[in-house]
Amino acid sequence: MPKPLVCSQALLDLDLGGKTYVVTGGNSGIGLVTVQQLAKQGARVILACRRPDEGARARDAILATSPRGSVEVIALDLAELASVRSFAQQYLAKNDALHGLVNNAGVMNTGHVKTKDGFDMQLGTNHLGHYLLTELLLPALRNAAPSRIVNVSSCYHDLAQGREGRIDFDDLHFERRPYDGWAAYAQSKLANVLHAKALATRLDGTGVVAVSVHPGWVRTNLVKSFMPVWLQDFVFRPFLSLAGMIEPWEGTQTTLHALLAPEVAHESGSFYSQLGMYRDKAANKGGWPMRSPNPNANDDVVASRLDAVSREFVGLATTA
Ligand SMILES: NC(=O)c1ccc[n+]([C@@H]2O[C@H](COP(=O)([O-])OP(=O)(O)OC[C@H]3O[C@@H](n4cnc5c(N)ncnc54)[C@H](OP(=O)(O)O)[C@@H]3O)[C@@H](O)[C@H]2O)c1
Repeated sequence: MPKPLVCSQALLDLDLGGKTYVVTGGNSGIGLVTVQQLAKQGARVILACRRPDEGARARDAILATSPRGSVEVIALDLAELASVRSFAQQYLAKNDALHGLVNNAGVMNTGHVKTKDGFDMQLGTNHLGHYLLTELLLPALRNAAPSRIVNVSSCYHDLAQGREGRIDFDDLHFERRPYDGWAAYAQSKLANVLHAKALATRLDGTGVVAVSVHPGWVRTNLVKSFMPVWLQDFVFRPFLSLAGMIEPWEGTQTTLHALLAPEVAHESGSFYSQLGMYRDKAANKGGWPMRSPNPNANDDVVASRLDAVSREFVGLATTA
C-alpha cells in the first residue's frame, strides 16, 4: 500500500501571523483539522459552519491547545443562498482582506432532497453554495493578494457508477432522470474541480490562485448520510484502514499543501490528489499537482459553461 503524501515540516512551521482564512465545514473532519493547523501556525481563522454550537465547541477545543492563533465562528448554511449572503455580509462588515478561502464543507450520497432554493442537495451544498460564497468574498481575496481559494473535491469526480463523472447540463438537479446519489455526488465534485479551473482563468493576473484537491479516503463523518459513523469508526475500522482509509490528519495534508506551498502560486487551476481510487489505476498514487484522469475535468469549455450556469442559479448577473 503506498504511503499518503505529506507536507514538509517547513510548510507546517510557516508563521501565518497576520493572515486570515475562512474554512467551511470547519467543525468536523478535514475542515476541523485544517482550522486546527492554521491556528497552530498563528493564523486568524473563521470557522464557517451550519451548527454554530458545534463550531463554538470546536473553537474552544482548538484554542485550548493552540493559544497563538485566533478562531471565530460565523454561521453558514451552504444549502440556503440567503445564509451564504448573510455570512459574506458579516465577514465583509469587519474585514477587507482574506488570504485563503477553503471551500471544504460537503455532503455525500444524500437522498433525493433539495436545498432551500430548490437545487439538488449535493450540487447545491457542495458547489452552488460555495460558488456564491466565493464570488461574494472575491473583493477581500483580491485585496489580500497573493491569496488562494482551495476547493475540496474528491477522486469521485472521476467516476459515477463505473462511468466517468459528468455535468448533465440538461438535468443538473435530477428532475428528469432517475435519482442516483453517487452520480449526484460525482457531478458536484466534478463541479468543484471545474469551478477552480474557471476561477483560475477569470482571475489570471490578479494574484488570487484557485485550485482543487482530493483529500484521500478519510475517516470522517462524511458517511453519516448512509451509514452510522460508529460502524465505520469502530466495527469496520481495522478493515477499512487495511483497504486504504486514512486518518483526518493525513486527509488534511493536500488541503494544507494547496493553501500554503509556495509553488502552488504558479499552478492556478491545478488539481492536487492524495492517494485515490481512480478508473485509471496509474492515478491512484495521487500527485501534487496531478492531471485528473477524467477528460471532463480538463475541459475549459465545460468549465466556462458551468461557471455561467452557476452564476445564473445563484442570482448573480454579470462576471465580477
Ligand atoms: N472523507 C473522505 O473520505 C472524503 C473523500 C473525498 C472528498 N472528501 C471531501 O472532503 C470535504 C470534507 O468532508 P469530511 O470528509 O471532512 O466530512 P465531515 O466530517 O462530514 O465534514 C463535512 C463538513 O461539511 C459541513 N456541511 C455539510 N452540509 C453543510 C451545509 N449545508 N452548510 C455548511 N456546512 C455543511 C458539515 O457540517 P455538520 O457537521 O453540521 O454536518 C461538516 O462540518 C467534503 O467536501 C468531502 O466531499 C472527503
